Amino acid sequence: MKDRIDSLLEEVEQFTPDNQEKAESFRLKYLSRKGRIAELFDEFKTVAPELKREIGQKLNELQTKAKEKFEAFRSRHDHDASDSEQTVDLSLPAESFEGSRHPLMLVREDIISIFGRLGFTVADGPEIENDWHNFSALNFPEEHPARDMQDTFFIDKDIALRTHTSSVQVRIMETTKPPIRMIMPGRVYRNEAISARAHCFFHQVEGLYVDKGVSFADMKQTLLYFSREMFGEKTEIRLRPSYFPFTEPSAEMDISCSICGGSGCNVCKHSGWVEILGCGMVDPQVLKNCGIDPDEYSGFAFGMGIERITMLKYGVNDLRLYSENDVRFLNQFKPVW
Ligand code: DAH
Repeated sequence: MKDRIDSLLEEVEQFTPDNQEKAESFRLKYLSRKGRIAELFDEFKTVAPELKREIGQKLNELQTKAKEKFEAFRSRHDHDASDSEQTVDLSLPAESFEGSRHPLMLVREDIISIFGRLGFTVADGPEIENDWHNFSALNFPEEHPARDMQDTFFIDKDIALRTHTSSVQVRIMETTKPPIRMIMPGRVYRNEAISARAHCFFHQVEGLYVDKGVSFADMKQTLLYFSREMFGEKTEIRLRPSYFPFTEPSAEMDISCSICGGSGCNVCKHSGWVEILGCGMVDPQVLKNCGIDPDEYSGFAFGMGIERITMLKYGVNDLRLYSENDVRFLNQFKPVW
């Protein structure tokens, strides 16, 4: 028995586990309940009393050596984060439970809070919408391309996934007596091929202000306030004449590029300006369609894409990142407590 202990001692001494698998087979072979050392301890019970002392000492030495070898590997391995074979113990309690906020939700909340300071409240509407609220009440002519199957996901002849949050304006105006000062964030759908620059669903925030004597200047000042709160106080805005069926006059609004500060970069295509929203005075016919007298009331409306604002605020250059649930992307938006 003495010889066998000696030869095991030699084996143990020579063994240098360099990965998790080898260390585990070492542990099983020598240190487990059915391992070599346990076997020898079993056999030890039958050893003659006069040999017990000597053999007992040897056996203890062997066991200590084997344990040391294994522990030495383990502590080296635990500290070596670069070891590609490091395994994760899934039974350990999680280090922390807090996840991260989705960037689109962070920006959505920023938008709500900025307009909240100007007295705008939040309203909601359905994502499955009828033709009247999504198109007809907003003056879209019968043959408008947005009504085409190629742009819109139709569920039925009269029912579609809303293509913009402007449908919620209609619902609000139909049911609320002015003054109305509301923003309407939500998800919208378009029949587009998915790429870095387009997606079949995205998010918008609609804004609507209807009261007696609301002017284009009110709109301009509101949007300037928003832009500076969102992108910094040095931000400038410019309005370019545009066309939407539901506003007259209509405009698209650019801000001085938040990435390069206006000096020219890829994002602003070296123009110094980036478009962030569409806006205009609510067309008198739209007010009428919704039961509001255009001789008494006027209003402005605007609509912006949350993905676009987020892209400019955080430098996200691919729309697909927002919906892929990649934690490497999402973890960057973890709150700093
Ligand atoms: N609904 C428009 C779109 O999806 C955005 C928009 C433009 C909304 C002008 C408005 C507006 O309220 O006045 O492109």
